[in-house]
This record gives sequence, structure tokens and C-alpha cells, in this order.
Amino acid sequence: MRKLFVLILLCACFSRVVAQDIPLTKGWKLAIGDSAQWASPTFNDQHWAAVNVAQSWEQEGHPDYNGFGWYRIHIVIPSSLKEKAFLKDSVRINLGSVDDNDEVYLNGKLIGRFGGKTGDIVKGAFYGPRTYTIAANNPAILWDKENVLAVRIYDTGGDGGIYGTNFSIGMADVMDHVKINTEADFDYGERNSLSKSIKLITTSHYNYSGKLGFKVTDPETNSVLYEKTNDAAFSSAKPFTYTFEIARLEKKSYTITYTFTDDKSGKVLTQTETTPYLLTPYPSAKPKINGADVFGARPGSPFLYLIPATGHKPLVYKAEGLPEGLKLDAATGIISGAVAQKGTYPVTLTVSNKLGSKTKDFSIVIGDKIGLTPALGWNSWNAWGLSVNDQKVRTSAKAMVDRLSAHGWAYINIDDGWEADQRQPDGKITANSKFPDMKGLSDYIHSLGLRMGIYSSPGPRTCGGFLGSWQHEDQDAQTYADWGVDYLKYDWCAYSEIVPKPDLDGLKKPYQVMRASLDKINRDIMYSLCQYGWGNVWEWGAEVGGNSWRTTGDIQDTWRSMSSIGFNQNKAAAFSQPGHFNDPDMLVVGKVGWGPSLHNTQLTFDEQYTHISLWSLLSSPLLIGCDMGHLDRFTLNLLTNDEVLAIDQDALGKGASQYIKNDNYQIWVKELKDGGKAIGLFNLSDKYQTISLDKTDPALNGFNKFRDVWQQKYIITAGKTFSAKVAPHGVMLIKVSK
Ligand code: GAL
Repeated sequence: MRKLFVLILLCACFSRVVAQDIPLTKGWKLAIGDSAQWASPTFNDQHWAAVNVAQSWEQEGHPDYNGFGWYRIHIVIPSSLKEKAFLKDSVRINLGSVDDNDEVYLNGKLIGRFGGKTGDIVKGAFYGPRTYTIAANNPAILWDKENVLAVRIYDTGGDGGIYGTNFSIGMADVMDHVKINTEADFDYGERNSLSKSIKLITTSHYNYSGKLGFKVTDPETNSVLYEKTNDAAFSSAKPFTYTFEIARLEKKSYTITYTFTDDKSGKVLTQTETTPYLLTPYPSAKPKINGADVFGARPGSPFLYLIPATGHKPLVYKAEGLPEGLKLDAATGIISGAVAQKGTYPVTLTVSNKLGSKTKDFSIVIGDKIGLTPALGWNSWNAWGLSVNDQKVRTSAKAMVDRLSAHGWAYINIDDGWEADQRQPDGKITANSKFPDMKGLSDYIHSLGLRMGIYSSPGPRTCGGFLGSWQHEDQDAQTYADWGVDYLKYDWCAYSEIVPKPDLDGLKKPYQVMRASLDKINRDIMYSLCQYGWGNVWEWGAEVGGNSWRTTGDIQDTWRSMSSIGFNQNKAAAFSQPGHFNDPDMLVVGKVGWGPSLHNTQLTFDEQYTHISLWSLLSSPLLIGCDMGHLDRFTLNLLTNDEVLAIDQDALGKGASQYIKNDNYQIWVKELKDGGKAIGLFNLSDKYQTISLDKTDPALNGFNKFRDVWQQKYIITAGKTFSAKVAPHGVMLIKVSK
């Protein structure tokens, strides 16, 4: 142990360039379980297992473990840290990423906590990077002595523990108190220009004064398009705003680098962001019918379908061949009613406006299967986390019908955080005070032609610590039906308390129980299994009656998370079929936050094109996870490309398979109902790549039409190969046909 301290000290002395921080990447120990004594500096942790905090505890010998665990490290904090620092008032501790909630103790004293709706570590799910800043004169710090840092974790599901690369302790630097806030939307002007305002803000008492550098580069050529330096001064009372405009941009992303240099301290803070570019063509004023070609419902169940159509309003809707029991509202395009007879009913839909009319063949399939194409909708979790409420849901529904439902988006799903803490005396579940009237809310959502989703767990509690459906399955299914629920996400969570080490049958059981309950009610409820992919759920998700099943742990809004989930779906692809789809988790585009305060997704614009293209190729449910009350122009453009959505909604229901995989790029191919193929050429590297396929390659052989799906235009290709220049982390999505 002592040797380790010496080593840590040595590292600290020689690593001045790295802001003099002491790395905390090595020397951690882990124990699974929970005990208040483990916070204590005098607790003897010698028998605890050493752990590599580069990876989650699942990867460190605790597969599938959810619940409590503690990490401890012994560390000397030298006062030289303080002496060498420019600002001496606070100490900063970087704890990598925490999954999900944590409490941090320094020498037995609680110095920070994160997670939980009521400060209770079990309630919440606030995975993400963690940094704690405490006053340098906090008596918990023992300068020049051995300190024990103990981190109590509660993991609700999926990966758990503390992990990543950013583990260190140091003095909070001048720039630790500064934020370059780039949250504002870009404005799109003439001459392909973009403008925006950014802000320099601080929480420190220090007065900042220096220069703000602004530079725009083209990542394809590395050439500098714009470079400017401005004086910049700001304090906690008065932020600095910088507004810029850049013009004559091509249809691609550029990199903007902001560099603030503080005169007094000489410290520098740099931040980059990329610029958006729009690929989806502006919708025509002429009428057009979008969305899937089929819709399934069970005989006798309430039926609701809004015909998705674009074009100048007012639009007038017509449907020929509707089965008995259904009626269409010609002004809103909402088809409702119930059909008693099983069968496949071919329907001709027509939408007209003063510029003309358009028809589309559509099948209504009344039978045992629902969810014939993946769900398109919104879910509250990635945006609002447990802070979801009635108003936020209504805002989302209104935004969906105003801006998205014309493209087929239909579900408004409430995730965790709606449930009361206690059941009624008769065992009935009720909503908490944030949802005063569930039936009223679903009536409102249905009146817009949309459908409502809800969330629960087979366990006694949900991952957010609310009531689950354990031993109340029939009753809950009936309550959902009474409320008018159309979609249920059923999340394993505290079911681990009931069955801690399930075998395959044990994994299936709770989902079969709720399936049986859902089958007893007279309502079509899409059934979305959520258990993070355990037991290769894709192999049996359909057998237990799931319309979709999560294949992974929770997604985060980073390239690392999105790409490692998305590009690892090959194993599950073959199991995708109409009515039963793989779910690699919800979308991380737009403003996300998993709680009351939101931020722009950290995915670059090219990464977002990759995200939507890949999820569509995979036939994944597409559940928007952002604040729908604030859909910026890029996000809206990204989510309203009918040709991209048509790939997701293709009636064949196949999942794309990984066709070519190498270090720099991957090609994924999906067979489509019309005999064509959708092909994604993905650049996984940090540099522009030209990705080529020989036209005689089996993926392309026999096809002579190549369509750029995002731009919705045919590509003229001469020569023997098909080649595309693809941006870093970006995609070229094509459709080939004869
Ligand atoms: C997680 C689940 C998330 C979200 C959360 C709610 O287990 O994977 O998608 O539903 O629980 O607490």
C-alpha cells in the first residue's frame, strides 16, 4: 500500500503539465453490497478486491449486478497542490462516469452526492460524468496526510459503478469556473449562412479579462475559413456574449473552435462544436401521404390511426375500403372505431388540397399481431428523467401533432416518474401529483390522433424507485386499459430483488406474467420489454409476446455510447420481424438531460445522421428523447425525412446486417419489401473517408439505381464502383433498386 502512495506522489510531481492534478486512475478497491462503515477512514479494506476503474463493475467480475457497491482509494493530498495553483480556494475531484447514483465521502464525511428525486440514493438514474468541487478549507481534507475517498454507488440497471478515464484530484483552476455556453440554436440565413450567440459565464468571484479566439475550419481540407480574436471580459454578474455569422457554407459540418485566454493567469479554455447542415428537402406544398404501409390491430380493440400527410393546409382525407366498424374524420385524417372481423383489408387513402391529390395503398390487418412496424414516437426519459409531468407530456403531444405526426410519429410515452408512492387500499395503482388526471391526459393525446404510452416494472419498484407492478399485474393492466394506454415499457429494475440470479426461464417469467395480463384486456397495448439485453432476449422476446425488446444498457448522448450500441446490433438482426423488433434504446438527438435541466446532445451533426440512419436500418423503434417544446431546425429536419423513416418502417421488418467491418468504416445492408436494399456506409474514423463498393459486389449486383436517401435524389455513378466521400463519424445512406 505504502509503495503506491509514493508512486502517486511521484506522478503528481512530474506531471505539472497536466494541471498538477493527482491521477486517481489506479489504486481503487471495490466491494459489492452496502454498509455505513465503508465510508469510515478507519475501516480495514485490505481484503477488498482491487478494481480497474477504466471499466464498469460488470466487466470487473460482477456480470449483471445491479444495486449497491462501494469503491475506496487511499491517497495523500499534498499541500504543494495548493501552493502551485493560481486560485487556491477549491479542490476538484474527477470521478470518471458514475452509473447511476453516488455519495462521496472523504475521510468519513459526505462531500457530495448525485441522484435521486428526494436525495435518496436509490431513487434516480443519473449516470454520467461526475466532478465534485469542495472548498480547500473544508476540514474533511487532510493535507499532506493519507486520505480515504469512499464512493457509494447505487446502480439501477445496465452497466454499473464508476468507470472511464477522467479520475483525478487537483485544485480547481481559473478555468474550472468558466463555461463557454454554446447552447443557443444556430440561425439559418441567406447565402447558406449560420449565425449564433455564445456566452462566457462564470460562477467565481474572479474577474476574467482576456481574449476570445474564434476559428472555423473545414475538417475535410483542414483549411481555416474564419479566424478572429476579440477582447472579452466577464464576471459572475456580467457574462460576455459573442455573436457571429459565417457565410457561404457547403452542405457539410465545419468545426468551430472557441479559445478564451485569461490575461492575468495566462490560463486557456478551449471548446469546439460543429455546425449543422440540413439534408432533408423542404416538404412540398402538394399533398403527400407518408408513414408505414400497414397497421395492425386486434379484433374488437379500440382502433386509432392518424393518416400521416404533408402538404399545404387545409388537407382533406378520404379512405376507400375501410373495414366495417371504422370511420374517418375527413378534416383531421383520424381513423377510429373497432373492427370485429379478422382479415387483411386493403384500403386506398387519398389526401387532397387545392394543389391536387395523392393516393396510397394501405393495409389494415386485423388479427393477433400489433406493432407490425416499429413504434415511432417520443419518450420522456432522455429529456426529462424523473422530472416528467403532465404539462411536459401535453407540450410534447401538441408539438408532435403540429410538427411531426405528418411523417408518421404517433406515440407519446411517459417513462418512469409518474407513479404514486403507494397503492390505493384496494391495490389499484395511481399516479403521483405530477399527473393529476391520467384519463384526461390520454383523452387529450387521443383527440390529437396520437397514442399514449406508460412505464412500469415487474419488480416491487421501478428503476427510479417508484411503485412497480409486482403481484399487481392484472390490476395494473386493467388500470392502463381504463386510462386508455396504448404502449407499455416494462423495465426489469427491482425484479432482481425477487429473483437475483435468474436462469433463462427466470428471465422470461415476469414478461410472460404481464403478457398474460395484457391479453386479458380489451385494448391493444404495445409491449416493450426492457431488461438491457440479458439472456440474449432477441432470441426469445417474440416468444414471450414482446413487440420490442431492449438489446442494451442505457444509451447516453456520446459517440462512444451511441456507436458502441448501434454497431453491435448484428447479433440480434436476424430476429427482427413484423410485430417484434430489436430496441437499441431511445434517440439522443435534440435537447436531452435525464432531468429538469437540458443540454444539446453531445453528438455532432454527422453523428446524429449516423444515429438516425443506423437505427432506421436496424428497424428499431424510434423514440425521440428530447424536449419537444424546443425542436430546433436541425432536429426537426433530421426527424422528418420520409424516405429515411420509410426504411425504418419497411413492412418486411428486417434488421440490417453488418456487411463489411473494418477499422475505419462499416457497411450495413437491409433488404426491403420492394426488392431493393437500404445500405449505410458509415465512417467510424476521425477523418474524411472515401468508402467504395464495386458495382459487381453482391450487395449492389443487379441494381442500377442509387438514391441518396437523406437528400432524396438519385446519384449518377459512372464507372465500376460506387464511391462516397463520408464525413468523420458520418454516413452515406443509399437505397438501391432496379
Ligand atoms: C432504466 C431504463 C431507462 C429508463 C430508466 C427509468 O432502467 O433502461 O430507459 O426507463 O430505467 O428509471
